Amino acid sequence: MMKINELCTAIALLTLLQLSVPTNADSQPAEMEVPTPQPWPEQFHALLYMNLSTAQLQISNLYYDWPNRRNVNIFQKQLGVLLYDIEWNNGTTFYYTLGENGTCMIMQFDVGILPPDFLDGANYLGTQVTDGFLCNAWEKVDFIWYYEDVLTKRPVRWDFYDGISTHVITFEIGELLQDSFTQAPAYCFTSQEGQRAA
Ligand SMILES: *[C@@H]1O[C@H](CO)[C@@H](O)[C@H](O)[C@H]1NC(C)=O
Ligand SMILES: *[C@@H]1O[C@H](CO)[C@@H](O)[C@H](O)[C@H]1NC(C)=O
Ligand SMILES: *[C@@H]1O[C@H](CO)[C@@H](O)[C@H](O)[C@H]1NC(C)=O
Repeated sequence: MMKINELCTAIALLTLLQLSVPTNADSQPAEMEVPTPQPWPEQFHALLYMNLSTAQLQISNLYYDWPNRRNVNIFQKQLGVLLYDIEWNNGTTFYYTLGENGTCMIMQFDVGILPPDFLDGANYLGTQVTDGFLCNAWEKVDFIWYYEDVLTKRPVRWDFYDGISTHVITFEIGELLQDSFTQAPAYCFTSQEGQRAA
């Protein structure tokens, strides 16, 4: 079910994203005003429609919480499982399902949560209509293509290098997830059922 190698590659590239230095915007002539992406709000909830590289679909409830350094995705795979993905800034990520045959996998990454300004230094690609919205588009380190509504500056869509395309259905600034939802179940912490991957 989990594609560990893909995840590891993704995380390695996320590291690159965070480390890459902004291009020298100061050298642009003043009349060429290049739009910059709106930083992510410190806390938001978004309902996401995702088309995976396998063309399988899932929806995700994303709860981004920078002050608490926590990123949560609750994935509902089409006609499939409800998968919890709880990411902490110390690099630990819990993936688990609930219920009778609940599963758990813990992964340890070298990077933490993306900061709100992770798109700083992205290359501006101009305007494009996507999902029916006129957007400003950027690309960063051949890892992410990001589309932001010109009028509201809300994210509309982002695509990852590996073919996962994410479409923002709702975007609620300040909406939080109750802490009780992010406590990994007990079987994550027993060696029998919990599985640890590095
Ligand atoms: C998902 O993406 C694939 C590849 O880009 C595309 O062929 C397919 O039509 C998409 N499916 C949906 C439902 O958007
Ligand atoms: C990282 O933080 C989470 C949440 O506080 C905790 O459950 C986990 O054990 C921590 N990981 C490490 C390697 O300390
Ligand atoms: C859990 O697994 C058992 C044994 O494979 C199966 O009989 C049962 O239907 C499963 N329960 C659920 C809720 O999937």
